[in-house]
Amino acid sequence: MELPFSESYKIKMVETIRRSSRSEREQWIKDAKYNLFNLRSDQVFIDLLTDSGTGAMSDKQWSAMMVGDESYAGASSYHTMKAAIKRIFGFDYFLPTHQGRAAENVLFSVLVKEGDVVPGNSHFDTTKGHIEFRCAKAIDCTIDEAFDTTNQHPFKGNIDPEKLEKILKQYPKEKIPFIILTLTNNTAGGQPVSMANVKEVSALAKKYGIPLLFDSARFAENAYFIKTREKGYEHKTIKQIVLEIYEHADFATMSSKKDAIVNMGGFIGFKSQEWFRQASTYNIMFEGYITYGGMSGRDMNALAQGLDEATEFDYLETRINQVAYLGNRLIEFGIPIQQPIGGHAVFIDAKKMLPHVPKEEYVAQTLGVELYLEAGIRGVEIGTLLADRDPNTRENRYPNLELLRLAIPRRTYTNNHMDVIAVATKNVFDRREFIKSGYRITWEAPIMRHFTVELEKM
Ligand code: F0G
Repeated sequence: MELPFSESYKIKMVETIRRSSRSEREQWIKDAKYNLFNLRSDQVFIDLLTDSGTGAMSDKQWSAMMVGDESYAGASSYHTMKAAIKRIFGFDYFLPTHQGRAAENVLFSVLVKEGDVVPGNSHFDTTKGHIEFRCAKAIDCTIDEAFDTTNQHPFKGNIDPEKLEKILKQYPKEKIPFIILTLTNNTAGGQPVSMANVKEVSALAKKYGIPLLFDSARFAENAYFIKTREKGYEHKTIKQIVLEIYEHADFATMSSKKDAIVNMGGFIGFKSQEWFRQASTYNIMFEGYITYGGMSGRDMNALAQGLDEATEFDYLETRINQVAYLGNRLIEFGIPIQQPIGGHAVFIDAKKMLPHVPKEEYVAQTLGVELYLEAGIRGVEIGTLLADRDPNTRENRYPNLELLRLAIPRRTYTNNHMDVIAVATKNVFDRREFIKSGYRITWEAPIMRHFTVELEKM
């Protein structure tokens, strides 16, 4: 008999989590103004708000922290991180930052000017925020297949080369500071980009003389999908695939809170010394001196170790299989999710799941609250609240997809937890006919409203 699949690690330290009653949760979510961000973490049983900074570090990462060097300049921890970034990505130059959006802030301060356009594959919110804050425009060139949750395209994170080339032809070179490829494409459902697409985009970037930036938060998960889904890569190691991807990068921004499995940290990688020098000034202004930039020595050590662990096949297989396990249980129950199942999260198609809730009443948010009420599970809305209002008309922007994201922290929960999530979601699905109304906004911030919005029941 073939042995069943199991985790590639065992557990050395645990943290207690607490179940609650439905009546407790009803009170807590009301007090939280029906915004899941406003809950206290001890009011949550299984926390799927994000996979960012919520992973479990290994014994080797914790021990690396003990030998962190906290010198202001030239710390050995900086050199450990520098060596890891060279080994994993091939970058000769890098700047540490406190997280991914800080890397964007520093790099975009050098590159992005008013009136610029930045084509890419569904820029992440902070990436878009840092572009729009500089009065430039983010243009989404993701393939159309990404917006149909039933389409089984294996690389739904890809950029459509035709859409991209149209932009490259339409605007002068000086107006396009870089093209951005997000690995994996978070907004489209943790969907990977193929190596063929990396090469196509890189060829177009070269043809038009535009630099190429990789938003690298989940680069290792992306490499896993290339190895398991793309012809010609099945015998390559994850580390070989990562190096091949980054041959095409001019620079990378990294939120190390995801695929470097640390609780805080980030960096910018550069091929050219000239860009590195220009960005160094902003790093010193915004983050810290160039050899620590917002990170402690101990955190740089843990990050370097995390990069090595996250690019091992056995770890990634455990990780991606757990997300797939949850996704497949939901599919068995007939629950509509973004397919194929992505790398870091399962995305539920809320419009299909709750067909009676009007779009004006925030369908994915309604689903998120229902799942919390059902079992104390906290997901995050990727829908109309997140999409914000049109800056000119102030009308709600209704995105193509109204999703509830269940992000799975790395090495944190077991498949028993996945079973609880699946059954809780099924219970909500089974009573969908009775869920006919959602929420109205009572207060909202002018931008990035989803973090702090206050709601009441319709
Ligand atoms: N790029 C991508 C693709 C991301 O998913 C994130 C963060 C960032 C950049 C910014 O990095 O948080 O370290 O500043 N995503 C988190 C999430 C917050 O929940 O998806 P950061």
